[in-house]
Amino acid sequence: METACLSPDQQGFARAAAILRSGGLVAFPTETVYGLGADARQDHAVARIFEAKERPRFNPLIVHVDSIETAKAYVEWDAEADALAGAFWPGPLTLVLPLKPGTGLSPLVTADLATLAVRMPDHPVAQGLLAAFGGPVAAPSANPSGRISPTEAGHVLAGLSGRIEAVLDGGACPVGVESTILGLAGAPTLLRPGGLPVEAIEAALGQPLRLYGAGDPVSAPGQMQSHYAPGGLVRLNATERREGEVLLGFGAVEADLNLSVSGDLTEAAANLFHHLHALDAQGARVIAVTPIPDRGLGRAINDRLRRAAAPRE
Ligand code: TXA
Ligand code: MG
Repeated sequence: METACLSPDQQGFARAAAILRSGGLVAFPTETVYGLGADARQDHAVARIFEAKERPRFNPLIVHVDSIETAKAYVEWDAEADALAGAFWPGPLTLVLPLKPGTGLSPLVTADLATLAVRMPDHPVAQGLLAAFGGPVAAPSANPSGRISPTEAGHVLAGLSGRIEAVLDGGACPVGVESTILGLAGAPTLLRPGGLPVEAIEAALGQPLRLYGAGDPVSAPGQMQSHYAPGGLVRLNATERREGEVLLGFGAVEADLNLSVSGDLTEAAANLFHHLHALDAQGARVIAVTPIPDRGLGRAINDRLRRAAAPRE
């Protein structure tokens, strides 16, 4: 694949929006860093983000929206969200709020959590793309996993050229560090310091922020071993279906549900949460899973399955 470098004008926005609609990946500038965008409603497109970045696990992603109104369609909005978004959106502040049911977002976006991170970026190119696309854009920073976040189109190309359809070149990002992430599902909690100073948030809220850390149930989002567990137990590397089990397959095996008959890891990632939910809904006592190769997206899939298989509290 050749990565197109698009100019930040109406033609570039239209082309980028068409790529997103067809399930492709477009990197774009925000005021903080460049994001790697996909249509947040398309499972396969979101799976490709993890593939392109070679992320070893499915951490939840931030959904980028064009307005407060749009954000309200996806999350349970409250007075604190209203005050903070009113004061700081568009801008480098991400709010984590309870996810509304039935939004049509891919469960890969939230890593199947009950909360969603949303933000409205303050950059004309990000806004131009969101307007042309007209939908929610899931985007982590546009760097390979474990590398520094990109603040110029050239940084994006150095890391991801040939792995994504396009980058919108909007020059250097003015803020240069990621957004501040604030958890609002409970007491306002700083989840990640970033481009918006904590003092500004505390002044707007009229109260100090809790700091995420010791005493919290998880030390970082998604790290608790059994956090993602379905109702039934999970048995990994199954070679057969035992008494009382349902079998989740990968590749050319006979199973109750198959992540990808053709052995395509991107397709398997796109199906993962949907299939686990479907088997869970059948009331399965044990979900047995056939082996999945531990390369590429298979690493993230296996990480997720190991958490589901971990002993429960
Ligand atoms: O400035 C930014 O925030 C950039 C631009 C592109 O918007 N994006 C960015 O995304 O930094 P990323 O994926 O590199 O970092 C997002 C962070 C991750 O640490 C993730 O765990 C956290 O947001 N996050 C996302 N959804 C969450 C949720 N529901 N609960 C807790 N943390 C969440
Ligand atoms: Mg990042």
